[in-house]
Amino acid sequence: MPPYEIEPTRWPTAEEAARSRLFSPIRVGAFEAESRTWVPAMVPWRATEGGYVTPEVLDWYGRFADGRPGVIVVEATGIRDIPSGPLLRIGHDRFLPGLRQLVDVVRARSDGRTRLLVQIIDFLTIRRRPPREKYLRRFLAVTEDHRRVLVDSGRVDDGATEDAVKEALCTLAEEELRSVLAPREWEDLRMGYRERVGDMHIPRVAELPRVLPGLFADAAARARAAGFDGVELHFAHAYTMASFLSRKNERTDGYGGDPAGRVRLPLEVYGHVREAVGDAYTVGCRFLTDESIEGGSGIDDAVYYGERFARAGMDFLSLSRGGKFDDAKEPKIGEAAYPYTGPSGHECMPTVRIDAPGPFGRNLPLVAAVRARVREAGLSTPVVGAGGINTFEIAEAALARGDCDIVAAARQSLADPDWFRKVELGRGEEVRRCLYTNYCEGLDQRHKQVTCQLWDRDFDEPDPDGATDLRRSSDGKRRLLPPAWT
Ligand SMILES: Cc1cc2nc3c(=O)[nH]c(=O)nc-3n(C[C@H](O)[C@H](O)[C@H](O)COP(=O)(O)O)c2cc1C
Ligand code: SF4
Repeated sequence: MPPYEIEPTRWPTAEEAARSRLFSPIRVGAFEAESRTWVPAMVPWRATEGGYVTPEVLDWYGRFADGRPGVIVVEATGIRDIPSGPLLRIGHDRFLPGLRQLVDVVRARSDGRTRLLVQIIDFLTIRRRPPREKYLRRFLAVTEDHRRVLVDSGRVDDGATEDAVKEALCTLAEEELRSVLAPREWEDLRMGYRERVGDMHIPRVAELPRVLPGLFADAAARARAAGFDGVELHFAHAYTMASFLSRKNERTDGYGGDPAGRVRLPLEVYGHVREAVGDAYTVGCRFLTDESIEGGSGIDDAVYYGERFARAGMDFLSLSRGGKFDDAKEPKIGEAAYPYTGPSGHECMPTVRIDAPGPFGRNLPLVAAVRARVREAGLSTPVVGAGGINTFEIAEAALARGDCDIVAAARQSLADPDWFRKVELGRGEEVRRCLYTNYCEGLDQRHKQVTCQLWDRDFDEPDPDGATDLRRSSDGKRRLLPPAWT
């Protein structure tokens, strides 16, 4: 499939921009956003191992704030007080000072014009793919099924010890081993162990409905205390809450099965969050229009969830797509599976190599379907659309058609954090346009500091804050921030 081109586009004059929908204000719950431009959550891997805000985190969001989008959503931030690698965390009050600083930086750098949300997330345990022998010797629990196949094929005697069974499994050829292991065991071996919301035999998974509402509510209360303008509940992609919404959720405790069961915990989480932060605070969520996996939720589910969330009183609905573990590529031994490596991951961050109709505004028809249902229900909840939105023409047309109320751009904003501002000032010709080839996502996948290929080797440009020593990535090869726009 030949790649789609980054086509020339007609940028508006400053007068046209001033009259546009894109640069008109909109109420989002307790605040008014100055424009309908939105930078959605993007993890840049700049927090400390302990989950704290660093100077690099401040610089990163400060740089986005220079471009004065209507809203910035801070990256997925963990609600539990557990080690999570260099992901921001909000699971304890000790994270508050750093988060307050982050709010202050965005206020100052945007002249108080950008509203700041934080995306709050829970995720289940996932482990790296183990070496085969380690898995068979250490992790596999020997079952009667394994034993029977090995006895039948004369590989072990009846009554062989567990260790003897494991040693016999180690000698099997790949295909033979696959036929002996249960599908879930085979997956643990090839992909690395991963917990599912349906693993009711694990007490911490069984009790998620009792634990998560409180954890989300406490995290949201901290976000308010830190000065954020609101929270975005992360109900999308490969994480716990999206797994509850998934058609693949087969829990039998009333929190799975039919759509009403699947949406129950997300609604209870929202209810507790609302109680914790009060009505005068913006709370919305991000969820999927389509999981884009076999047997997963589709647009019919999304339309139903959208209506339920809006009826419950959410202040915005931000829509994404795909990004699941179910179809992720097998990781290398010693690495963890990553939910953006398979076809559903491609739907989440579409590249110029995706199938028809290409990456640009690809999700808008699905976003429109959710919004239409919300409006039919008589609700005016703003809906945020994302996915390959890279020009004023696409953004303005989406708003004019009523596909969405707010336009989010992740990678285009990473390529050029000033792009919305350039467009508003009638200087669209100066926009550095995203190539949609996912160099940035490749870095994200390896948990490396995320940068963009269009500017990270540009050492001729001075540092945006005027400092002479450009902050560089840990390998010393890349600058960490886009050059200043003057
Ligand atoms: C490096 C990177 C990190 C991302 N991190 C998150 C995240 O933390 N939470 C989230 O909901 N989406 C995340 N996304 C997805 C984006 O928010 C967005 O939905 C997606 O990139 C499609 O929009 P775009 O075509 O404008 O880039 C990330 C995307 C990228 C490129
Ligand atoms: S690295 Fe590539 S895909 Fe990512 S923002 Fe830059 S140009 Fe776009």
